Amino acid sequence: MAEPDYAHRVHEIAALSDPRLDDYLRLSEASLRMRSDIENGIYIAESTMVVQRAISMGHVPRSFLLARKYLPQLEAEFARYPQAPIFVGEDAELEALTGFHLHRGALAAMERPAPLDLDQVLSRSTRIAVLEDIADHSNLGALLRSAAGLGVDAVLITPQCVDPLYRRSVRVSMGTALTIDWVRLGSWPADLERIRGHGYRILALELTEDATALDELHPAPGEKIAMILGNEGRGVRPETLEQVDECVIIPMAREVASLNVAAASAVAFWQLCSSQR
Ligand SMILES: C[S@@+](CC[C@H](N)C(=O)[O-])C[C@H]1O[C@@H](n2cnc3c(N)ncnc32)[C@H](O)[C@@H]1O
Repeated sequence: MAEPDYAHRVHEIAALSDPRLDDYLRLSEASLRMRSDIENGIYIAESTMVVQRAISMGHVPRSFLLARKYLPQLEAEFARYPQAPIFVGEDAELEALTGFHLHRGALAAMERPAPLDLDQVLSRSTRIAVLEDIADHSNLGALLRSAAGLGVDAVLITPQCVDPLYRRSVRVSMGTALTIDWVRLGSWPADLERIRGHGYRILALELTEDATALDELHPAPGEKIAMILGNEGRGVRPETLEQVDECVIIPMAREVASLNVAAASAVAFWQLCSSQR
């Protein structure tokens, strides 16, 4: 059988102490990876589906890492980026390198795309979500999936929020972290005024006494609205609440105190985007 075109680019990881493999070290240590990936300008795409999605969005791979059996699934991606080395290894070697069992096929170290311009995003959007200090990558992924699937135009994340491109966020988001417009704010809550300056009504989804029930929220078609969702433990910060136009609550039954923030987002985004459907 003829060798595939990419055969000369395939390196066995056991035979290498290649510094390019550093991109894959200790992937299971979320806080360490979040810092180093942002500093190094990379993110890790996990699973063949996510690698394919990332590359279809124009993101550029630095290298690939996978078990040999998955090579044929990424032939088109290898052909598109002939400079990117392809590292292969046995399951145990891959696990020793990355710190977790790689059962979803491939990984790729991707160049982080250039950040979007906040003013451009604000001017072309109508409904936006602001995620304040979300601490859990799975919640962030689920929030991005809700936003994308329910019609929110763009997501803003505060400086303290975890990384949308950390591999768990991307995976839980079903790849929507790569497709929805999102911007990390530089200063919070100071950037609220910048959002307001683009004509947005600012709402906080929060359990406050004076909050309007969500089913009474009837945004006019085309009305610009920003909805802030709060940290999992603390909720929306008091200093943020002081600056919003209105709080909105999902009334709760059976003395349940609150919903998980990602579950709350799905309910709220449905109503927020109702006039856009
Ligand atoms: C789990 S809650 C934080 C609850 C926090 N322990 C508290 O008691 O304030 C995290 C975020 O989810 C949203 N949330 C959850 N349930 C909600 C509800 N019933 N009404 C409005 N917002 C809700 C809010 O944005 C809130 O800031």
